[in-house]
Amino acid sequence: MDTNKGFEFPLIRTEIPGPESRILSKKLKEVESPNITYVSGDFPVFIKKTYMMNVWDVDDNRYIDMTSMFGVSAVGHTNSLILDILKNAEIINGMGDVLPTASKVKLLGKLRKIMGGGYKGILGQNGADAVEAAMKTALLYTGRHRIIAFKGGYHGLSYGALNLTWSKKFKLPFKKQMPVITKFFEYPRDDIEGDFVLEKIDAYLSRLSPEKRPGLIFVELIQARGGVRVAPYRFIQGLKEIADRYDILLGFDEIYTGLGRTGKMFAFEHYGVKPDIITLGKALSSSFPVSVCLATDKIMEAWPESQGEAIHTSTFLGHPLICEVAASVLDQIKKDKLYERAERIGRLLMGELKELELEFPGVIKEVRGKGLLIGIEFRTKGMGFESMKYLLKKGFITLPAGENAEVLEITPPLVITEDIAMFFIQQLRRVIKDELT
Ligand SMILES: Cc1ncc(COP(=O)(O)O)c(C=O)c1O
Repeated sequence: MDTNKGFEFPLIRTEIPGPESRILSKKLKEVESPNITYVSGDFPVFIKKTYMMNVWDVDDNRYIDMTSMFGVSAVGHTNSLILDILKNAEIINGMGDVLPTASKVKLLGKLRKIMGGGYKGILGQNGADAVEAAMKTALLYTGRHRIIAFKGGYHGLSYGALNLTWSKKFKLPFKKQMPVITKFFEYPRDDIEGDFVLEKIDAYLSRLSPEKRPGLIFVELIQARGGVRVAPYRFIQGLKEIADRYDILLGFDEIYTGLGRTGKMFAFEHYGVKPDIITLGKALSSSFPVSVCLATDKIMEAWPESQGEAIHTSTFLGHPLICEVAASVLDQIKKDKLYERAERIGRLLMGELKELELEFPGVIKEVRGKGLLIGIEFRTKGMGFESMKYLLKKGFITLPAGENAEVLEITPPLVITEDIAMFFIQQLRRVIKDELT
């Protein structure tokens, strides 16, 4: 077997986008709602094939994926163990909440185990689903509907989750259909700012009668889409103390950070605080749409026992094939200790990027992150987006992040090698030198 397969350096054969991609862009514009896919003269390329770290487009250009496609493909693209499950499947569709399968029991059992016991779950199909299950769970348990969330946070775009997402651009067009249930606070940059925000939250809560208090504080430990902003350690400790003191549930949205990405299985391990509720998605199946909201046994007991019709479910909940894949992905992350790899290669990348920060202080404002969730904040708005397009021409897939696309987000599959990491740095240095300075 060619051991390099899936870990090859980029090979760009055409202009980017190539002729086939350009034809497809034109056709897509005729058939898709205009807001969905960004199409311009130099974007996008249409992808055709993926394997581990590599992605091929319809013009046969080979790329390296530094995004895991939104942080999903933790165990590498088109992973052979996942393919084996698909090949050997005896059931594809099921009836998740009526006639379940053993795979659902297996997946939820594994999640309970990696959480250290004591958590039950509600499965969903995407991140927003899990967030909404968390919102409902908190309401049922506390009887209180209001929620504290944070500026810069991203929790999904369906109406429930959108309540907790900060950016006005997602909300303003739909405001008329949205109740106001969220109180937003600043997301601090360091412990000192964190202390100030904690004081503000404390002051806000102390003015409310117990029944008017929020039922849930919901926070990302690293705001990924918000620009890879890492929550200060003391801030999370303080939130836990406030949540306990005011009898409010503390929920962590680990849809991006969970399952190895930050160098630990869960980002909360960096903070030594266990959540009452946690949401996971993306890397959970490393491929297909699945998410989960986990809450402690006591909190989950707030849901009434099903009498034959669930009050929260959906057609594909507990999809048997996807549960089987997700259970296998959890095994792979654990067996291959991919969180340790994320820590090791993340440290290497971070060290190199800090060098770039010193080398180009007029271009790069800050490099930050944990493990393989890294953000490069540029001094100029939109430069995350611009650098993404230049890197694509060099054969690297990246994503912009932050309110003004001022950040370049690096979230490669956790199977990335040192060689690829170093080659990426070399090409990024070139882009900064030749195009951004
Ligand atoms: C932290 C976080 N929560 C929730 C979501 C929403 O997930 P989805 O787009 O699958 O609904 C995202 C998506 O990026 C996310 O990063």
